[in-house]
Amino acid sequence: MQLTREEKEMLEGRHGNAVKKSMEILVALGEIYGAKRLIPVKTVQISGVSYDNLGDAGLEFLAEMAKDGKVRVPTTLNPAGMDLENWKVLGIPEDFAKKQKMVIDAFAKMGVTTTCTCTPYLVGNRPDVGSHIAWGESSAVTFANSVLGARTNKEGGPSTIAAALTGLTPEYGLHLDENRKPRVLVEVNSELDGIVDFGALGKVVGEATRGKIPLLKGIVHAAEDEMKALSASIVTYNGAPLFHVEGITPERVDEPDEKILVAKSDIEKAISEMNDGVDDVDFVFIGCPHCSIDELKKISELLGGKRAGKEFWIGVARPIKEESDRLGYTKIIEAAGAKFACDTCHVVAPLKGRFKAIATNSAKGVYYGRNKNGFKTYFGTLKECIGMAVK
Ligand code: F3S
Repeated sequence: MQLTREEKEMLEGRHGNAVKKSMEILVALGEIYGAKRLIPVKTVQISGVSYDNLGDAGLEFLAEMAKDGKVRVPTTLNPAGMDLENWKVLGIPEDFAKKQKMVIDAFAKMGVTTTCTCTPYLVGNRPDVGSHIAWGESSAVTFANSVLGARTNKEGGPSTIAAALTGLTPEYGLHLDENRKPRVLVEVNSELDGIVDFGALGKVVGEATRGKIPLLKGIVHAAEDEMKALSASIVTYNGAPLFHVEGITPERVDEPDEKILVAKSDIEKAISEMNDGVDDVDFVFIGCPHCSIDELKKISELLGGKRAGKEFWIGVARPIKEESDRLGYTKIIEAAGAKFACDTCHVVAPLKGRFKAIATNSAKGVYYGRNKNGFKTYFGTLKECIGMAVK
């Protein structure tokens, strides 16, 4: 890989130990994937923030990097293992909270904006079409590539930290035009209405295309929250972290020869596969990916005057929650007994063994609820999930 003089100096350690280690990570990655050079990135989203995933080895690595590492580009964090303020109300154990705070402190020392969310694009980290970025969380990566037209590979924890501390990433994969072309045409012959249908479509397309970039035709309209749900689902169910939707996504591309069809019956089958047939749950989670302000408005309308008898969490970025406070939605939602889970979610929080069955409107939430936490799943619309919460 060709390095500039400054990059060579960074690799030799003349800009400090954290930069040296970062360059070692980026150069190794670049060489594995045949990158010719490093390119500047505009923003970074660091993954691997929950202490539940990092453990003590991860914490040690961060403490080492924080000794002399400072971010060179705007950088935010993926959800952590707990709400950084409200963790006691969510039942997070004290010893876990202590370690999680140490993780966040290390990032803060590096100059990272400690907003922990999988929807950085809703809270100011929203890249322009064509900009190169280094993001880690899979739904955010897919949304950035597919909906915003930015360019990022699905980065791991260490490579996002390395990108943040150098402002660089190796130029390979989805940073290059030739790797962004669709390989399979997906004709959607079904009306789609709401997040559940778009999540189910993501499952169908992800499983059918298995890593090949699809071009979806036949989707007449999709709201941003629906594209958010599709982005999260498609990549969870084995799809590529980039898809194109004719007439909606920003890149103009040619139609590939290979073609598959998606019918209404495929969507219905996917919805039924995500339901384990439970008629009651002990946990409800909405906000996977984290809720937009529109979603919070809908939740407040559906919950107003009711009372949730189940543990009910709403995953959200803290700045969106603050907007909700100002608009009066928070008061209504909390009066109904639901809890805001800022900075975190049902997958990265240490919840294994705490609940038996979850209700969610997220196809991604179903996958990880089952596979990480062993929950039985109820997959339904927002209204249906709220119905389960107040049952
Ligand atoms: Fe976000 Fe957690 Fe879902 S990181 S996409 S809320 S699994």
